[in-house]
Amino acid sequence: MGARIPLRIDTAPPLDRRSRALTDLRISVIDRCNFRCPYCMPEDDYPRDHQFLSKAGRLRFEEIERLARIFAGLGVRKLRLTGGEPLLRRELPELVRQLASIDGIDDIAMTTNGSLLPKSAKALRDAGLQRITLSVDTLDPEAYRSLSGDRGDVADLFAAIDAATAAGFNSLKLNSVVMRDINDVHVLDMIEHFRGSGHILRFIEYMDVGTCNEWRLDRVVPSAELRERIGARWPLRALPANYGGEVAQRWEFVDGGGEIGFISSVSEPFCGDCTRARLSADGRLYTCLFANSGHDLLGPMRAGASDAELAALIAAVWSSRDDRYSEIRGRAGASQRKHVEMYEIGG
Ligand code: GTP
Ligand code: 5AD
Ligand code: SF4
Ligand code: SF4
Repeated sequence: MGARIPLRIDTAPPLDRRSRALTDLRISVIDRCNFRCPYCMPEDDYPRDHQFLSKAGRLRFEEIERLARIFAGLGVRKLRLTGGEPLLRRELPELVRQLASIDGIDDIAMTTNGSLLPKSAKALRDAGLQRITLSVDTLDPEAYRSLSGDRGDVADLFAAIDAATAAGFNSLKLNSVVMRDINDVHVLDMIEHFRGSGHILRFIEYMDVGTCNEWRLDRVVPSAELRERIGARWPLRALPANYGGEVAQRWEFVDGGGEIGFISSVSEPFCGDCTRARLSADGRLYTCLFANSGHDLLGPMRAGASDAELAALIAAVWSSRDDRYSEIRGRAGASQRKHVEMYEIGG
């Protein structure tokens, strides 16, 4: 390959119809997963005829890198790799290395279930991955197994935490989707385990993503309620956000036990400053986690569109964006709408 020609895009960073900039890109590298979490890809309700993408239908690494570079030209500063399970994509460190070379990108993170992390944590770190977020819904061995759809082993999760720490990822974020009468009973045990470790546990309100998780409002534990339960045992105080539009509300233990977070997209929606775009593994651009369809970028790219044409296309999609699903969830019909599946755009 010849010397890289610096990307010149004349399209200005777009604002959407609610004046929100485009600063974060979440990139799903694969739609497959080795788990079957009931809130995402439940084994029973899951559409069995679902066709996962073939290799040819997925963006190649150079295509992902090219799009990320174009997004960076439009104002994106943060990248997050997701899946399905991103570590099922072979040679992922190679993609990280390519993404880390993009001018303007100052944060590259990944969300994973961790089961395959020990094999690649060091290579990912060396390639330029800055942060890892692990899914940890419970530490109870039986419940962990069940919440992974009978696929995961909590021992592998501990191995993932150790491997990530040894590789130099020293403050992990640990995401827990909380469901009433399912794993809310394990929250205090999880906190007990991770308090003082330097890792940040974050509790996510169970959301009505996708089409097959049989979401019920009464299974959502509002963050305010959870905070009260936690605070009764370990008093908490609020911390300021790290950056504008941060998804998690930060809290800390008054006794110095460290930080925890709450992601309250059902009880306290945060659409007002949502600057996140999502790119699916088949090259579709989604402007909301609850969108019912995405805008194809792979087709135009493979048909020969130039960088400037792709930038103009992305800017046009973003400029017409009006999404705020979590704010209107309660309105008639909103939650009955078809939504993209979580495993297609990685949360
Ligand atoms: P950093 O703040 O950069 O560490 O990342 P993050 O907290 O934005 O990313 P992460 O993937 O850890 O997000 C945690 C969870 O929050 C996701 O798995 C989703 O469940 C939820 N979430 C993230 N972004 C959105 C969003 O735009 N809308 C909604 N409704 N939920 C989101
Ligand atoms: N509600 C809330 N968060 C979810 N995730 C997946 N499905 C849901 C849901 N129904 C989040 C979890 C998981 C990440 C990939 O997406 O945090 O770890
Ligand atoms: Fe679970 Fe994540 Fe896999 Fe969905 S993509 S089944 S949330 S591990
Ligand atoms: Fe952004 Fe859509 Fe989530 Fe609202 S519901 S915060 S618009 S992704």
